[in-house]
Amino acid sequence: MPIKENLQVVISHVEDAHECLSSKLRKIDPLYLVIGAIGSTVVFIKLRKIYKRSEEPILKRLAGFAFHHIRKLPFVKAKIDKELQGARKDILHSIHKDDVDRAFISEIPEAGLSDQAVIEIADRYDSYGKFDVDHGRVSGAVYTDRGEKHVELLTKIYEKYAFSNPLHPDVFPGARKMEAEVIRMVLNLYNAPEDSSGSLTTGGTESIIMACFAYRNQAQARGIENPVILCSKTAHAAFDKGAHLCGMKVRHVETDRNNRVDLRKLEKSIDGDVCVIVGSAPNYPSGSVDPILEISKLGQRYGIPVHVDACLGGFLIPFMEQAGFAIEQFDFRNPGVTSISCDTHKYGCTPKGSSIVMYRTKELHHFQYFSVPNWTGGIYATPTICGSRAGANSAVAWATLLSFGRQEYVDRCRKIVSTARKIADGIQKIDGIKLHGSPDVSVVAFTSDDFNIYAASDLLHKRGWNLNTLQNPNAIHICVTYNSANDQVVEKFLADVKEVVNEVAALPDKGNKSGTAALYGMAAQIPDKSLIDEMVYQYLDACYAKPPPKEASDN
Ligand SMILES: Cc1ncc(COP(=O)(O)O)c(C=O)c1O
Repeated sequence: MPIKENLQVVISHVEDAHECLSSKLRKIDPLYLVIGAIGSTVVFIKLRKIYKRSEEPILKRLAGFAFHHIRKLPFVKAKIDKELQGARKDILHSIHKDDVDRAFISEIPEAGLSDQAVIEIADRYDSYGKFDVDHGRVSGAVYTDRGEKHVELLTKIYEKYAFSNPLHPDVFPGARKMEAEVIRMVLNLYNAPEDSSGSLTTGGTESIIMACFAYRNQAQARGIENPVILCSKTAHAAFDKGAHLCGMKVRHVETDRNNRVDLRKLEKSIDGDVCVIVGSAPNYPSGSVDPILEISKLGQRYGIPVHVDACLGGFLIPFMEQAGFAIEQFDFRNPGVTSISCDTHKYGCTPKGSSIVMYRTKELHHFQYFSVPNWTGGIYATPTICGSRAGANSAVAWATLLSFGRQEYVDRCRKIVSTARKIADGIQKIDGIKLHGSPDVSVVAFTSDDFNIYAASDLLHKRGWNLNTLQNPNAIHICVTYNSANDQVVEKFLADVKEVVNEVAALPDKGNKSGTAALYGMAAQIPDKSLIDEMVYQYLDACYAKPPPKEASDN
């Protein structure tokens, strides 16, 4: 049939349907029709709002919603409360297990203690920690060897700058200059252009939150009502926190077999709400570096900014090439990359409390600034979350960068990355476990198809190794630091892994009943994540609590 006749058939069907519907509607009171139309519009808007509130699949949300209400039924609530009560006690005892004193200072002493007395208490508290950080038994956490000369220098610098505050650049011009110099040194490390700019923050999370805030504000200026952060499911939880604080949403994308973001899925997830695409270099869980070059191209193609989270590897990746390791271009040389977060307080080896968030342009950085021009306390403006800032953080970061110099960072990078590669090679040779993701920089993650890997982690913990637990999928990782970057640690670690793997593989339950396995197993089965929230809040509460009296089970 020719197109014209086809069209006429369609039109006549539409006319019939229209006539049929109209005749039916004519029988209804117009007032009801108006009320129905308004009512259904309101319901539609409400449902759309609920749907848009989260990026989680609808079935998962429905299950969570149902469980949330079932939980309120009296008999279910009583059972859950009883379980939580038990968990609360276990958590409290586990947090305080190393506190041998069990005394707790909760009042400011009427008369001040002597310096000697204060130092004695501080020394006692310092002795509570049982993990051998200096001999590389801890994954991440402390990235440097805290060498005597370095600590001596930092102590002298701290003495001078402890009370400085870059919020008052007129009072502390030196602290201001140090902060500006640290930021510029790191911008140059990342090949930032002339117009680039950045801020020193208190750590990776604050740097990421500031970037989220900047992109939220830019999105609003561009007329995006519901801004979305698009990233891999491996992107650091700080993006979820940033999104939560800034009223944004995070759209997580699956990874490929190397645990890098799946580029095809990333592109398919782009829509008009996406205000920034995130790539990690490397990601926290498996240490895989996302394909920054390709993400940068995607950003350019769709006109969407790209943030590179180099918080973890920030002071390794810029030195990898010089240290003899290949790495794809990850910095501002990629024209699509608009911002980068990089932690000085990790592999930059500065004391805790500093990170840099960098922007390609000052214009973009301005979206991060905040000002209250008409405040009764005077015109107020701050670049980051804090008002007053610890000038000492900038000062010790500044001193570390100057005293280390590029060559020290290159040497450390060589040791750390080659150690990670040795560990990865060794893991691949152990039966029953396999690598998870790609150990591109300093993190080596592994898992097992044969048994519960968390049980191996628990046994390694008993042997003095403090590793990190991952989920979705179950895995564990070691993040190599300068303290673990030597052959003795590699040999001991691989030998211990091999032994615990054999031990768990021989268990009839394949390790499913181990403490961590049971905890994660239970968490995975609970659809209402607010119950997990309650448990982790108990953990946080326990960190602030007075120590409970010692019990026999604490030993
Ligand atoms: C990739 C990545 N981004 C961000 C962060 C957050 O850094 P911070 O703990 O300093 O807030 C981390 C911490 O490990 C990280 O690994």
